Amino acid sequence: MAALELEGVVKDYAGVRAIHGIDLKVEDGDFCVFVGPSGCGKSTLLRMIAGLEDITGGELRIDRVRVNEQRASERGLAMVFQTYALYPHMTVWENLAFGLENIRTPKAEIKERVTRAARMLQIEEFLGRRPKQLSGGQRQRVAIGRAVVREPRVFLFDEPLSNLDAELRVAMRREISALHRRLGNTMIYVTHDQVEAMTMADRIVVLKAGRVEQYGTPLHLYNEPANQFVAGFIGSPRMNFIDAVVDGTDAGKVTVRDAAGQAYEVSVDGSGISPGQEVTVGIRPEHLEVGGDKGHPVSVQSIEQLGGQSFLYCETPDGTQLTAHFVGQTSMRRGDKAHATFRRSFMHLFRKSDGKALKRLEIGEAAI
Ligand SMILES: Nc1ncnc2c1ncn2[C@@H]1O[C@H](COP(=O)(O)OP(=O)(O)OP(=O)(O)O)[C@@H](O)[C@H]1O
Ligand SMILES: [Mg+2]
Repeated sequence: MAALELEGVVKDYAGVRAIHGIDLKVEDGDFCVFVGPSGCGKSTLLRMIAGLEDITGGELRIDRVRVNEQRASERGLAMVFQTYALYPHMTVWENLAFGLENIRTPKAEIKERVTRAARMLQIEEFLGRRPKQLSGGQRQRVAIGRAVVREPRVFLFDEPLSNLDAELRVAMRREISALHRRLGNTMIYVTHDQVEAMTMADRIVVLKAGRVEQYGTPLHLYNEPANQFVAGFIGSPRMNFIDAVVDGTDAGKVTVRDAAGQAYEVSVDGSGISPGQEVTVGIRPEHLEVGGDKGHPVSVQSIEQLGGQSFLYCETPDGTQLTAHFVGQTSMRRGDKAHATFRRSFMHLFRKSDGKALKRLEIGEAAI
């Protein structure tokens, strides 16, 4: 069992703050994903947990015990990196056994652990080969195997799949998820790929510039993003954003207008805003319908038909880009004039001043 707690964790590099006081609780057995743009501090945070970086301030606890001062080797964690860093002159077997030999594990136990890990990761047939005789995916499995044989309390992964091609990434993603289900250990996984985050995580931590923007289950982040940054980061294609100004606030809905004078009604709690205030309307591509002669005028810029699903890229008269996504095919063509309708109960509204999302109302609470 290993629960992880961060309280006010800070990291300075030569006087420059990279991590700004992070509070986080990772439950025992959770698969927790750190996601965020390049440079936001994902690796730094993971390396502090691993014990590879000093913690400037705050406290890190594993199973309620402060470990700030513990060395990496004492923390009972194992880390898998983006570059596999296997020993090229050793066989797969030797690569797997090396860490255990170093800590003087009895021979019989090494044999048992290496055999078990190799079977689990389906690399038994490669045990006699050297790393250069393996594919990228096989090498990454060996790197994961090296962590597995150590039987750590927590697994830490730093973008382990980013050197693999797209197809292999999907396969390895599922293997790591399966490994998590089988072992049940706490895992912390860093990626900047939001699809990886959505598909693998029990909980996602969205980071930006060394701060936590939101922490929650994948669908919670998708359905109830706390701010415009999370709304734009989670979901692919990205949520559509339209700049607007508040027109009026009623019980159960807020009416706003865009630069072209088009009105939108959004089912959010308007108590935090007032008429005249700048806001951003958010709507996901699957909640935008394009076609017919009612709604807001748009022109179709391009279309992607994948057979089972389609993407329409449109533009409003004032130049705002809108993406619509739907299941099925379309007879629409590039250059067509059409209308976009917004499903009110799926719309989001963000304050321009700080990007914060206004509380969305349950369907029942909203005036339909
Ligand atoms: N050893 C270091 N010395 C000084 N600054 C550093 C050091 N390591 C990281 N930083 C800075 O800390 C910030 C966070 O870096 P970090 O490597 O944690 O980002 P990341 O989220 O992992 O990015 P990426 O997705 O590109 O891997 C960056 O601004 C980076 O320049
Ligand atoms: Mg990194």
